Amino acid sequence: MDGYLCIKSLFIFLCLFVVDIRATGNSSEALVPPVERELRQGNCESTPNEDLVFQDHIYKPAIPLLVRNATASCHGDYKIYCVTVKPSDQSDPTAEIIVSEGGVNHTFVTIEIHSKRNEGIDYGVRVFAKKLNI
Ligand SMILES: *[C@@H]1O[C@H](CO)[C@@H](O)[C@H](O)[C@H]1NC(C)=O
Ligand SMILES: *[C@@H]1O[C@H](CO)[C@@H](O)[C@H](O)[C@H]1NC(C)=O
Ligand SMILES: *[C@@H]1O[C@H](CO)[C@@H](O)[C@H](O)[C@H]1NC(C)=O
Repeated sequence: MDGYLCIKSLFIFLCLFVVDIRATGNSSEALVPPVERELRQGNCESTPNEDLVFQDHIYKPAIPLLVRNATASCHGDYKIYCVTVKPSDQSDPTAEIIVSEGGVNHTFVTIEIHSKRNEGIDYGVRVFAKKLNI
């Protein structure tokens, strides 16, 4: 009986201890950087429609056990000043988004998207650029 009480109180103590650690926050969990939900490169404060040089909806449905990859790229006689990759509303935005070539200050850009295993890709890509004076 004594042993049972002892184990029981030890259990309660451990529970309180664990709850206490969680409540004080700043545990290692809190140090994990937030998932990159969207990509925004460059100065995207003012993006008039006439500067929209590329727009694409990248959609790849989830396939069980697989990682889905997608790329988007564009190039032209312009200098890119803003690139955005935003999740569509219904998607689960946990994919990794990388500007692998070019981008802001270049005439071209290549964007790679890698989903998590078991997940799909559903993103809108937009590139804004100023025409080069030739
Ligand atoms: C957690 O850390 C942040 C900054 O590192 C600090 O501002 C905040 O007060 C801390 N919170 C607790 C509960 O210690
Ligand atoms: C997707 O990209 C990752 C990282 O570059 C690569 O390891 C993997 O083989 C690619 N998967 C497919 C199906 O292309
Ligand atoms: C693009 O060029 C401008 C002006 O030269 C510079 O301020 C800015 O940091 C550059 N941005 C990138 C992403 O290279």
